[in-house]
Amino acid sequence: MFKTRMTELFGIKHPIMLAGMNWITEPKLVAAVCNAGGLGIFATAASTPEETRKNIKQIRELTDKPFGVNQILIGPGAKENIDVAIEEKVPVINYSLGKPWFIEQVHGYGGKVLGTTAIARHAVRAAELGCDAIVITGQEAAAHGANATSVVLIPIVSSQVNVPVIAAGGFYNGRGLAAALALGADGISMGSRFMLTKESRVHDNFKRLCLQATEQDTLYSDRFDGMPGRALKTKVTEAMMKGGFPLIEAFKGASEVKQLLGLSFGQFIGLSFQMMRADEGSPLWVQARQAAGARRHMKAIYEGDEKEGILFAGECCGGISDLPSVKEIIDRVVAEAEEALETTRKKLV
Ligand SMILES: Cc1cc2nc3c(=O)[nH]c(=O)nc-3n(C[C@H](O)[C@H](O)[C@H](O)COP(=O)(O)O)c2cc1C
Repeated sequence: MFKTRMTELFGIKHPIMLAGMNWITEPKLVAAVCNAGGLGIFATAASTPEETRKNIKQIRELTDKPFGVNQILIGPGAKENIDVAIEEKVPVINYSLGKPWFIEQVHGYGGKVLGTTAIARHAVRAAELGCDAIVITGQEAAAHGANATSVVLIPIVSSQVNVPVIAAGGFYNGRGLAAALALGADGISMGSRFMLTKESRVHDNFKRLCLQATEQDTLYSDRFDGMPGRALKTKVTEAMMKGGFPLIEAFKGASEVKQLLGLSFGQFIGLSFQMMRADEGSPLWVQARQAAGARRHMKAIYEGDEKEGILFAGECCGGISDLPSVKEIIDRVVAEAEEALETTRKKLV
């Protein structure tokens, strides 16, 4: 058993968090992590506010443990989704990209705010703004990151902030948890590992591709959705690395997202400009690429389409070779971490 500042802050049993992952962290997976003693996080960026509320209620039907929602603050619908999460008094609000305007409101009902970043300077700023804990993401992680790896970032951030630090990027086993604690973190957040479980909704075709992957089989590029991110190396992602700007695809993706969020064309353009001006916001062409990337992700996750689909995935897929249940993973990581710390002590002569 590991009691850390992370377990104390959130009232959970183990210092392990399910990373928010669009399209993947639906209520069943979130609740499975919570019921196994971790902190389940539901990513809302791909949901309308109505869907977000429905999913929060569904999580509450499946677990009575603390859970969180994750929202990228620069995206369309961000404010509306955050408002719903606050109305529903979700115990943990986890954000990435952008400046949180809601910290006081969340603290008002006893909730916690968890900032996610990949840059030490931003982690310090998030702590200064009043975040209760910080997730710091190393470059080996699935999806978006910056240039430093976990082994470099964790000690830097842990020595610069006073709030609990949760390490993300490359963590999938007990050795990783033990290493993260030794580097100064208070716990870990796992994305790829929880994506490869029985409960995960990722299509079997892509689960199989991830299990076959070595640690060399991911690609880090802005080609997938316009922002630097890590995806599984496949024929499709390799071709995207070589191709030019996917204009037609970006247009198709943008119109789908517009429809999905129920926006008029004017509202969509207005929001795009708003996002461009926001802290860490992205220009229009990046947003068009994100829309195109979202289409391809859904094709991979829901349909298992290996001809067009792409999947964000971390380097640690190279160390993952099975599809256990969420509970098996959490119990295994904790037991292995205890053993790893013991073995490390014995190594010292
Ligand atoms: C398919 C997929 C979707 C993701 N979507 C989000 C997201 O919506 N918001 C976010 O902050 N991070 C997102 N991430 C990144 C994870 O939250 C996390 O940082 C990453 O998976 C950690 O690295 P690991 O995969 O090595 O454990 C996503 C990751 C994956 C695999």
